[in-house]
Amino acid sequence: MDLGIAGKTALVCGASKGLGYGCAEALVREGVNVVIVARGAEALEAAAKTLAQSAASGAFVKHVAADITTEAGRAAVFALGHDFDIVVTNAGGPPPGDFRNWDREAWIKAVDANMLTPIELIKATVDGMARRGFGRIVNITSSSVKSPIDILGLSNGARSGLTGFVAGVARTPIAAQGVTINNLLPGSFDTDRLKGTMAGAAQKSGQDFDTVWEARKKNIPAKRFGTPAEFGAICAFLCSMQAGYMTGQNVLADGGAYPGTY
Ligand SMILES: NC(=O)c1ccc[n+]([C@@H]2O[C@H](COP(=O)([O-])OP(=O)(O)OC[C@H]3O[C@@H](n4cnc5c(N)ncnc54)[C@H](OP(=O)(O)O)[C@@H]3O)[C@@H](O)[C@H]2O)c1
Repeated sequence: MDLGIAGKTALVCGASKGLGYGCAEALVREGVNVVIVARGAEALEAAAKTLAQSAASGAFVKHVAADITTEAGRAAVFALGHDFDIVVTNAGGPPPGDFRNWDREAWIKAVDANMLTPIELIKATVDGMARRGFGRIVNITSSSVKSPIDILGLSNGARSGLTGFVAGVARTPIAAQGVTINNLLPGSFDTDRLKGTMAGAAQKSGQDFDTVWEARKKNIPAKRFGTPAEFGAICAFLCSMQAGYMTGQNVLADGGAYPGTY
């Protein structure tokens, strides 16, 4: 299916690997120009080179090594001077732990990364999108918004704040100006982040990594983890012309793990 977005320009955050990379790859394959962001310059540059090889003809890939959760990081991105038609917001998730140990600083960091940064990126781009009559914003959040994970309280809380904000702003007049804002909720995807979380769980329970990894799969109806490419394909669809009537939604991709009917 031609998604009708060739020649558009996208900002994809947290995209040197994992889910953000999957989104960037699916977009460049559609002929979308992509600016990718991550903090580690070396991995980012390598990712940009690989992406450029998958890019449909004419599409460019640029990269900005920056911490997207900082004002300076976002300024470095906007200094490129692009009018972004598509924005995929993403940054690392907050660490697991016990809420009794989280002080104000831990909460502010989580809220900054997983709520205020996407809001700042929306604020910086949405009016331009509306003026040009087309815009797609996809926030990578988490299945924890629908089905909280006890040790990820910082994520449950900060991402729920973003979800509430998006539900409101997506339905403002920008909805009639060609701009959609949706959240894409990953369940368990095979990325370094998941491996890190599983390694922590293994250490805590005294089991080896492979035992914990395989046990986690068994709890998912699909009996496997998702791939960044599958996630990217859903993201690209949400950015497509065809998805223009879909806004303010929370789209779950979790192999059936969420047990609810709705
Ligand atoms: N994988 C899953 O199963 C899963 C499930 C639920 C939710 N999520 C959430 O989905 C998001 C992406 O997860 P992932 O699995 O793709 O993680 P990942 O494999 O660890 O990749 C994270 C990417 O984001 C970049 N990044 C992290 N912090 C950043 C920052 N402050 N500024 C710019 N770039 C940043 C990383 O590069 P640098 O470190 O070099 O900056 C990397 O490119 C996270 O918020 C995660 O919590 C993932």
